[in-house]
Amino acid sequence: MSDEVKKGLLGIIVDETTISQVMPEINSLTYRGYTVQELCDKCSFEEVAYLVLNGDLPNKKQLKKFIKEERSDRKLSKQILKDIQKMPKKAHPMDVVRTAVSLMALEDKETKDNSPKANMKKTIRIFAKTPTAVAAFFRVRKGKKIIPPKKNLSFSENFFSMCFGKIPSKEIVKAFDVSLILYAEHSFNVSTFTARTITSSLSDIHGAITGAIASLKGPLHGGANEEVMHMMNKVRKPENALKWINKALDKKEVVMGFGHRVYKKGDSRVPTMRKYFKKVSSIKGDKKFNKIYDIIEKVMIERKNIHPNVDYPTGPTYHLMGFDTDFFTPIFVMSRITGWSAHIMEQHAANKLIRPLSKYSGEKHRKVILLNQR
Ligand code: COA
Repeated sequence: MSDEVKKGLLGIIVDETTISQVMPEINSLTYRGYTVQELCDKCSFEEVAYLVLNGDLPNKKQLKKFIKEERSDRKLSKQILKDIQKMPKKAHPMDVVRTAVSLMALEDKETKDNSPKANMKKTIRIFAKTPTAVAAFFRVRKGKKIIPPKKNLSFSENFFSMCFGKIPSKEIVKAFDVSLILYAEHSFNVSTFTARTITSSLSDIHGAITGAIASLKGPLHGGANEEVMHMMNKVRKPENALKWINKALDKKEVVMGFGHRVYKKGDSRVPTMRKYFKKVSSIKGDKKFNKIYDIIEKVMIERKNIHPNVDYPTGPTYHLMGFDTDFFTPIFVMSRITGWSAHIMEQHAANKLIRPLSKYSGEKHRKVILLNQR
């Protein structure tokens, strides 16, 4: 056996999956064989969520049933709502949503049941309740009353309603839906691999998703969409952008929202999200971030040949929609629950404990010298 260390599991294929395929050579990403671009054009987020979880696009009857289940599972228990109200207002919403999913495990009657049927039911419950938890904290920390979920609204409409008490124009809702479609799944990324690793010990889905949320929070992964907004706020206006980015590169800083472990010639999700970012900017009559976006992107490609990833356009899009910056990654969670759950179920179906090896580089064997002799 070779003792070569593959730090970051770079280039290692650890398992097979039928859920999604990232093809960096042709800038393509497919969910269950469909390109994300086509899914964004032709489907709702609910249809894509069904596809990711079940393997096929739903027919009318299947979609109706899926939507009905999701809508009837949206409410959180009084206890969890009370717990969210008691959480520190300054807590990061990612820590709140991670805790909320963990709390859901305490109440779920099937927490310990890892059968495919129970796992699918638990998935829908976590998927339906998580936006309610995110929106509740969004309101509570501003001292506002929690708005309960509504059964007559789509996944995206309901989230806007729970956060702001109103639903924006169809175009804005579509842009949000598209962002959720693009965030739903991305093969063996860090958080998904975390979820699969937790699952591989035959632990439960609530635990695996809780761990995945912790993993997604990091700025090298999902947390990047928040960092992009912090960067845009630092740049402040388009006239500052060129100087700012050149200085950052001179200082060898990592520019958030750029680069990817797999895509080296551009992230296949970016052109679609970029289009919707432009649309939202026009609707909102705010082109400042669009201009900053273009300038930084141009310099990053010219000087470093590093392209933006999907977090680059989603960050400012969510900002223009009115979401607080630290809620961007929790929104990512709301969508990625579908991908994580599909992987958790796939892992359970053909499980092998994930347990890599390490190369020891510490002290050689030594003998304990008794305390009074040291
Ligand atoms: N800004 C500036 N330089 C970057 C960069 C970025 N965003 N991303 C990569 N690079 C540079 C690295 O500094 C490194 O340069 P070097 O060879 O001179 O040391 C080179 O490109 C390779 O990058 P590396 O970090 O080794 O690639 P990776 O595959 O391990 O990392 C990321 C991928 C995503 C962690 C990395 O691109 C990054 O930190 N991006 C910013 C965070 C982000 O947007 N994350 C969301 C990902 S979807």
